[in-house]
Amino acid sequence: MIIKLINKQIKKIEADIEIVLVIDKKIKENKELLKSLNFKGNDEEVVILPESKKIYVGCENDDHDSLRIALSCAVKKLNSTKFKSAKVALYTEEIEISLKAMVEGILLGSYKFDKYKSEQTKEEEKSLFIATTYKKFNLLQKIVEDATLVSDAVNLSRDIINTTPDDFYPAIMAMQASGIARENKLECKIYDESYLKDKGMGAMLAVGKASNNKPKLIHLTYKPKKAKKKIVIVGKGLTYDCGGLSLKPSDFMVTMKSDKSGGAAVMGIMSAVAQLKLPFEIHGIIGAVENMIGPNAYKPDDVITAKNGTTIEVRNTDAEGRLVLADCLCYAQDEIDDIDYIFDLATLTGACVVGLGEYTSGVMGNNDMLKYQIVQSAIESGEYATSLPFNRYLKKLIKSEIADICNIASSRYGGAITAALFLDNFIKDKYKQIWAHIDIAGPAYVEKEWGYNPHGASGAGVRLMLSFMQKLDNE
Ligand code: BES
Ligand code: ZN
Ligand code: ZN
Repeated sequence: MIIKLINKQIKKIEADIEIVLVIDKKIKENKELLKSLNFKGNDEEVVILPESKKIYVGCENDDHDSLRIALSCAVKKLNSTKFKSAKVALYTEEIEISLKAMVEGILLGSYKFDKYKSEQTKEEEKSLFIATTYKKFNLLQKIVEDATLVSDAVNLSRDIINTTPDDFYPAIMAMQASGIARENKLECKIYDESYLKDKGMGAMLAVGKASNNKPKLIHLTYKPKKAKKKIVIVGKGLTYDCGGLSLKPSDFMVTMKSDKSGGAAVMGIMSAVAQLKLPFEIHGIIGAVENMIGPNAYKPDDVITAKNGTTIEVRNTDAEGRLVLADCLCYAQDEIDDIDYIFDLATLTGACVVGLGEYTSGVMGNNDMLKYQIVQSAIESGEYATSLPFNRYLKKLIKSEIADICNIASSRYGGAITAALFLDNFIKDKYKQIWAHIDIAGPAYVEKEWGYNPHGASGAGVRLMLSFMQKLDNE
């Protein structure tokens, strides 16, 4: 879909069809006809009137999230026709936020993943004209460009996650990351098992032991001149998680190609930061590993040693993400000086999905203000997130009788938070207040389409992190 912002009244733009947003259920034209079609203007309601060349789409509220959903529905309708071009008037309340949302709705809503279909849909690219007579046209033009970059980053992340485990293992993740680096002039370092052994990264190594596809540590860096801050984003890149010897039941194993969503989000983010010209030094670190079973698998009862010397009693090999992240977080803090923010993105726990539902990420850490800022950025970006609290009692649940800590908690409750508290053991004291963990296990993979997210990967984490950094730039 090609989006063009046009500095004209909508009626003066030539297009095959017009998209009309029906906001707050206020139907202003074709009332009788729309009534007879039972169109009320609810969210996700869409009808096409071919004779009057109009697509009507409901938008229950006028907030940015409703606009994204409405545009996505309208564009799907457009894509089901042979019309080549469409026009839509820019919604004039909170114009800048609305425009961003409209562009994202169009580009995220028209995403398709048909790599594995024997017949791929070869549609001619359609054009969508957004009409505005707002004076600050250049500013709006920039918003369209940035929203397009952000949406492309989300769709790149979706492509990575949707690719099947046989086609996407750590070495492929590393190769694609180096491609992103080449295209965007980023630094790229890829480390294999010998480096991990050398650096004592026993936790990440243990998880990868049983697989033929050996682990890779990927480190991408964007270093603009006169960077204002240094930001590190670590991603869980489990290209497959079968649970290891603590094997997942079959039903739970399906969709575990999405356990690389944190890493894929980091790749999406890093693909956009240079073009968005963010004035920060940004490090994207991915622990790309496959958690498998086999004669060489790590075992419940093993005690492994992480990069910072902490010994970990393994009681469940399916709690592997935290082991990989532990070493990657240590690597980041050892290799990069004077970090201003350190985040990790991970599909870490089923408990987070149980607690918050399939749409919302959990934000955890030691700094309430930082957690609040992340939740705000998420909501402004169109993602759903909320903050989950640490407390002294939960902290005690990951004690081990035989090692420094245990990789699972002794209680079945509070699993999202105890996983985050495990990670906290690998954050140096000086960085405790600038670290946040974001569990994206709920929204990362969509089994029943919602809003502008089709079945499959949603690209969770990409808009959230980019919006946080864009906001930081405007402070
Ligand atoms: N990758 C899973 C978490 C997950 C579950 C992500 C569902 C997306 C959807 C993670 O590695 C895992 O298996 N965690 C275990 C931890 C438990 C053994 C303490 C879980 O959540 O069951
Ligand atoms: Zn697991
Ligand atoms: Zn996992």
